[in-house]
Amino acid sequence: MTAPTPAPVLRSATDADWPAMRLLAATCFGNFRPSPTLEMWQTMVAEDGVVLACDGPDVVGMALYLDLWLTVPGGEILPAAGLSWVAVAPTHRRRGVLRGMFVDVHRRIGAAGYPLAALLASEGGIYGRFGYGPATVEQRRSVLRREAIFHPDVPDPGGVRIVAAARHAAQLADIYERWRRCTPGGLFTPEAMWNEVLADREEARDGGSALFCLLHDDGFALYRVRGEERASVEVTKLTAVTVEAHIALWRALLGLDLMQTVSVTTHPADPLPYLLTNPRVVRTTGSEDALWLRITDIPRALEARRYGADLDVVLDVSDAFLDHGGRYQLTIRNGRARCTPTDAAPDVHTDLGVLGSLYFGGHRPAVFAHARRLRCADPTLVPRLETAFASEVPAELGYGF
Ligand SMILES: CC(C)(COP(=O)(O)OP(=O)(O)OC[C@H]1O[C@@H](n2cnc3c(N)ncnc32)[C@H](O)[C@@H]1OP(=O)(O)O)[C@@H](O)C(=O)NCCC(=O)NCCS
Repeated sequence: MTAPTPAPVLRSATDADWPAMRLLAATCFGNFRPSPTLEMWQTMVAEDGVVLACDGPDVVGMALYLDLWLTVPGGEILPAAGLSWVAVAPTHRRRGVLRGMFVDVHRRIGAAGYPLAALLASEGGIYGRFGYGPATVEQRRSVLRREAIFHPDVPDPGGVRIVAAARHAAQLADIYERWRRCTPGGLFTPEAMWNEVLADREEARDGGSALFCLLHDDGFALYRVRGEERASVEVTKLTAVTVEAHIALWRALLGLDLMQTVSVTTHPADPLPYLLTNPRVVRTTGSEDALWLRITDIPRALEARRYGADLDVVLDVSDAFLDHGGRYQLTIRNGRARCTPTDAAPDVHTDLGVLGSLYFGGHRPAVFAHARRLRCADPTLVPRLETAFASEVPAELGYGF
């Protein structure tokens, strides 16, 4: 009889572990990323923020978190632990290694005082069990440029220049900074990340052209040209702080006469189709969860955001992963909330993942009520929750991590 395989040992990482971590990441995600890009991400890892699973000398699992600053509805900015590089070797899968690492990593996140943990999911079925809910949605849209005609009511604000992005780094960073401070899901971007984006390395182009840049005082579009005929524009980042900048940039992009399609990743409320006489010219080619949230400090998180209506409600929140839910009195007046523990009878039963999905206003309470994942004894409470939790500014993730 063979002896049972010992469980991998969990420990923190040291600098000496990074080569093995890079190899594991490359193996699990199927690509080697350029060293400068990895070094940039490494600078963003939180203090003692890496948990490794080791089998003898081999690193067979890892999970780390970045030290992020995340904007919530109303413009307050909270520290957030951004989980990334979550991977388990194919030789050690489905033995509970991820679960073990997640218990450890969330203990660290709690001890460090982050009110939010956030991640992007490689697969949609993994993270619900750990109390994460999809909080922002991104849509892939493709415009048939030759058929795009601007609606006569839509202005032509102008003010867009063609520039070399790397020579305008400070202006791009300033525009992004203004945008992220007022957008739920906006993330602080360190200078090193801007430098990495604008370095525009050949390996990061994935067969596309070098980066082009359209610049307006209040917005910018970075894009590549792709395809055999070099006739597809892929916008890699479009940031507009004003409506005028958004319209002006789209007028410039759709003025690229020799291009056939212009594609962009955006949020579901982007008014792009309605700038045109024929909204169907803007095809939605994909729609997916982007940022997932686990609320790790319910009172702090709920008190940080702003709300659309007054409300008095007792929330009962379950957490099957770490039992970090609880029962809270949520009192909202003039957009601000007080959230305190209570023993009072609950008005709403839900779980931490659903609360994460509602937090940015990117998902509606009625949808979860329909699915019976949010249960109210009084059905008139659902529309009141809707108005309270809606966000004036649509949620959009600042960047993937
Ligand atoms: C996803 C991954 C980290 C899972 O690691 P693992 O050690 O096999 O996971 P565990 O055995 O600890 O499983 C934990 C739980 O998640 C579930 N699970 C694991 N992988 C899953 C998947 N791909 N889809 C759905 N559920 C999954 C398990 O069934 C288990 O459920 P339970 O504890 O509720 O019974 C690993 O398969 C991997 O590295 N995949 C490739 C890289 C990747 O996708 N990383 C995630 C980046 S966001």
